[in-house]
Amino acid sequence: MTSSGLINKMSASSDPEPAMRFFFLIFAAFALPAAADMSGGDVYDSTCRECHADGKLNAPKLGDRERWKKLIREGLDDIIPEALHGIREMPAKGGNPALSDLEVARAVIFMANASGARFAEPTPAKVKQWRKKADAKPR
Ligand code: HEC
Repeated sequence: MTSSGLINKMSASSDPEPAMRFFFLIFAAFALPAAADMSGGDVYDSTCRECHADGKLNAPKLGDRERWKKLIREGLDDIIPEALHGIREMPAKGGNPALSDLEVARAVIFMANASGARFAEPTPAKVKQWRKKADAKPR
């Protein structure tokens, strides 16, 4: 059979199943990862880059080791609750409330690691603790 013959045969078919399966696969390929938590790098690109790429509003720049050295020394237990809660010109969750606490934590770790640190993926227990600390801050 020629390839055009095959296409004719496929489009002439009245069975909707192959098309349904095709759309389901496309849907699954795009919808599932979007529904899951984003990586730190993806969160950075979607939300944090706007200020942290070139230090807008005096945000600590990605890769500015001098500036990040102090933040890294303060530690994740300080800087992640601040990123969740907001600090001075830095809005809560970078101004994107759709982000989960885990996603924000991953983005902080992504930026710190791009600036000299070597922090590991956060545990759910840690994320809960950071949320508590953020909520305890004065509004
Ligand atoms: C609208 C601009 C803006 C966006 C968007 C933004 N930041 Fe910031 N961020 C700032 C500024 C400004 C500071 C410095 C705040 C200060 O110390 O006065 C800062 C500081 C920080 C700090 C250091 C906090 C500390 O303890 O001093 C972290 C961590 C941080 N941002 C994480 C993030 C993450 C993660 C995102 C994305 C989810 C993000 N930021 C998005 C402006 C922004």
